[in-house]
Amino acid sequence: MKGGFDPILSLLRDATGVDFALYRENTVQRRILRRLALHDIGSLEEYRMKLETDPCELSALHRDLLINVTCFFRDLESFEHLNKLVFPRLAQDRPADAAIRIWVAGCATGEEAYSIAISLQEYFAETGHTYQVTIFASDISATAVERARSGKFSETIAGNVSPQRLNRYFSKVEGGYQIDQGAARDVCIQPARSDPRSPVLEVGLNQLPKRSDILWKRSEERYCPVTLRAQPRRLSCVGSVGIRVR
Ligand SMILES: C[S@@+](CC[C@H](N)C(=O)[O-])C[C@H]1O[C@@H](n2cnc3c(N)ncnc32)[C@H](O)[C@@H]1O
Repeated sequence: MKGGFDPILSLLRDATGVDFALYRENTVQRRILRRLALHDIGSLEEYRMKLETDPCELSALHRDLLINVTCFFRDLESFEHLNKLVFPRLAQDRPADAAIRIWVAGCATGEEAYSIAISLQEYFAETGHTYQVTIFASDISATAVERARSGKFSETIAGNVSPQRLNRYFSKVEGGYQIDQGAARDVCIQPARSDPRSPVLEVGLNQLPKRSDILWKRSEERYCPVTLRAQPRRLSCVGSVGIRVR
């Protein structure tokens, strides 16, 4: 990355271990420039000096760059794809005692993992299948993981979750909705970094599944490390069904 961004990225790399040089350049640069504007700072060099002496700003920049934006049933088409193509393939000739394991990498605040849990429950209800399911969800952001684990979401989810699903899988609580134990039962959320350098998204954590049936990684270019985008075919090596979600 040119134009004075490199020293800022080095500082971040040293402080957080995340190499944002591997992420989409435009997005990273835009987010850094937004922080400059926020503090009314005129040059990247001046901002770098601020970062050296202001750990709160360094954390704020790190948080901004991770971009925890997500929502329930984001991109409906991919959920239809799951339902019509992936779930039937998973269930085909599957022994009754073969548990299904799904890994949602970069789950942010959990909406995606719970959406998959709900979709799978609905698929089981429709087809009569009953497999044990574990959905491992992970994210590098500890605050996002904490929120994901709480299972509590704001009122705005009603924009993406149908009234029937709200009624069936959530309880109304003050200020929003709480996912019910039934829907959350299969979801296990871990703080974990998916190493952008690794083509198969190895996270190096023993608790994550060695083999998953589905690896769910939404590869929106803005959020994904470049090396992951460059190796999409390798994703399918992780499990019997690898789906790449755009
Ligand atoms: C924009 S959110 C996407 C959330 C969800 N997958 C979706 O598409 O709705 C991107 C998430 O990826 C996480 N992330 C970015 N780099 C990561 C890495 N190297 N390892 C694990 N998580 C990462 C961020 O913390 C953020 O929560």
